[in-house]
Amino acid sequence: MCGIVGAIAQRNVAKILLEGLSRLEYRGYDSSGVAINNETGVRAHRAVGKVQALRDKFDAVPLDGKQGIAHTRWATHGKPTEANAHPHFSGDDLALVHNGIIENHAPLRRELKEKGYEFKSETDTEVIVHLIHDALKSEPDFLQAVKNTLKRLEGAFAIAVTLNHENERMIAARKGSPLVVGVGIEENFVASDQLALLHVTDQFIFLEEGDVVEVTRDGVTIFDAQDTVQDRPVHVFNHNVDATDKGEYRHYMMKEIYEQPKVIAACLEGRISETKVLTSCFGVDSSFLKDIENVHIVACGTSYHAGMVAKYWIEDLAGLPCSVEVASEYRYRKVAVPKNTLFLTLSQSGETADTLAALRMAKELGYLTSLAICNVPSSTLVRESALTLLTNAGAEIGVASTKAFTTQLTALLITSIAIASEKGALSAEKEAELVTSMRSLPAHIDEALKQDAAIKKVSDRFANKHNALFLGRGPMFPIALEGSLKLKEISYIHAEAYPAGELKHGPLALVDEDMPIITLVPHNNMLDKLKSNLQEVAARGGELYVFADKDTDLHNEDGVIFTEVPKVDEILEPIVHTIPLQLLSYHVAVVKGTDVDQPRNLAKSVTVE
Ligand code: G6P
Repeated sequence: MCGIVGAIAQRNVAKILLEGLSRLEYRGYDSSGVAINNETGVRAHRAVGKVQALRDKFDAVPLDGKQGIAHTRWATHGKPTEANAHPHFSGDDLALVHNGIIENHAPLRRELKEKGYEFKSETDTEVIVHLIHDALKSEPDFLQAVKNTLKRLEGAFAIAVTLNHENERMIAARKGSPLVVGVGIEENFVASDQLALLHVTDQFIFLEEGDVVEVTRDGVTIFDAQDTVQDRPVHVFNHNVDATDKGEYRHYMMKEIYEQPKVIAACLEGRISETKVLTSCFGVDSSFLKDIENVHIVACGTSYHAGMVAKYWIEDLAGLPCSVEVASEYRYRKVAVPKNTLFLTLSQSGETADTLAALRMAKELGYLTSLAICNVPSSTLVRESALTLLTNAGAEIGVASTKAFTTQLTALLITSIAIASEKGALSAEKEAELVTSMRSLPAHIDEALKQDAAIKKVSDRFANKHNALFLGRGPMFPIALEGSLKLKEISYIHAEAYPAGELKHGPLALVDEDMPIITLVPHNNMLDKLKSNLQEVAARGGELYVFADKDTDLHNEDGVIFTEVPKVDEILEPIVHTIPLQLLSYHVAVVKGTDVDQPRNLAKSVTVE
């Protein structure tokens, strides 16, 4: 999704801004641009495609200056063209970058056109810069003119603005889209994501909703939504979790797949004892666990699939009703909230616009409390939720979520056991057994990764497929959904997932020798039923790719390609079965030559509706 970087320093900021944009590439974008202030005015370069195309423009025609703003754009209003790329200008003097969506852009555009403003792009953003220009006619103070303009905007935004002859300050603001201030020595920065600034500072101020900030070389002045000056704390970034280096791997996604044993161990650390889940991981007061009578889980994308697995665990272990819903649906319907319901959000980024909106709505609906399971401690979701359980996966750069997902599952298992235990639904022996199983999880993931070479071989058979069907039953059904999402996201093969028992109610019509059927086989009382489903496929000539442990008595045979998954306790099966599916989609994407870490049209952090 769109990214912002801004800098004001004693040195040339061009390199700082370009490096910042490169660090934001992982979020997904389709064009980029930089505007630099110097004594001769504000000048910009823009380019479609990768940040490298923008660097090439700087190499051909350098722009130097001690103040500037930069942007990676993920198209919403208007195609990814150079004209639509940010920064947008009003006249030659005023430049602006924007993340988010201005919902009332159409009437504002009409109004500005009547006043004689000419639009050079199809973006909603361009109205903001012209509005500021217009405001400056009656309010000569730059800061005040920006503040006056922001009052007219409906929707979500983070912006950074720079004005010619104002070489001592730039203005930034946030409402609905994230923005941080990076604090340096005689230089200061803004960015939509702190990772964009780690090459220049490790000190950050997280802006709050409605904040407007005046950034100078010597300091920052923050005005809150009521226009009162606020002193906000400076947080120091923990460099141990800087994952912006690919190391020995060709892609971030592969590096992150291989980090899973380590990050799952980090997610478990301090949360389980020899025999119990430590409820203190939810904060000093964990008494809410006893009061829970229902759970509502709300999330998007991969996080939603993690929530679907947790429904099985919560209902099975704690015996409590649990519903799971995508945030974009939840936020627009009338929700009935039973007494003592926990509102649980899941998000790797903590900035997903729909999930945040759902949380804000839920706060008005009388839930028992809100718990966020999230990977980014400084995120808006964490700051706005009553309780947090961090997944501790470290920064995830690949757009296709891998380690963030398996750590979400780990955190959800911790939560499910904690609820079950506090509700008295779990005996001490059973809890000790589950905790012992969980401790073995990193080792099992390690073992699952050993199938990498075998899965790579299998992936060659997918290169010319156009469709794929994933099957699972019980908690393996959401894992089938996640496997199909991974394949779609990075290899662009159309894939669907079905609960295996539903096969005969429609999808069987699609089965022929061109349709690979990927089946996740649990080793439980569903095994025989699933074997019957496989017979239904085999009888129709479908090619079966079976992922199962070796004691399931499944193996390579005509029409069946078998991949071994480590045998684990049933509760861990969904987590361990995720690994081969991640590897499969990765290798298929590599064979197909797609952009694995930054798949087309997708964004890591979806900060717009
Ligand atoms: C985007 C990402 C997905 C992610 C989804 C929800 O679509 O590409 O990987 O699952 O957003 O994001 P969240 O940060 O809320 O988990």
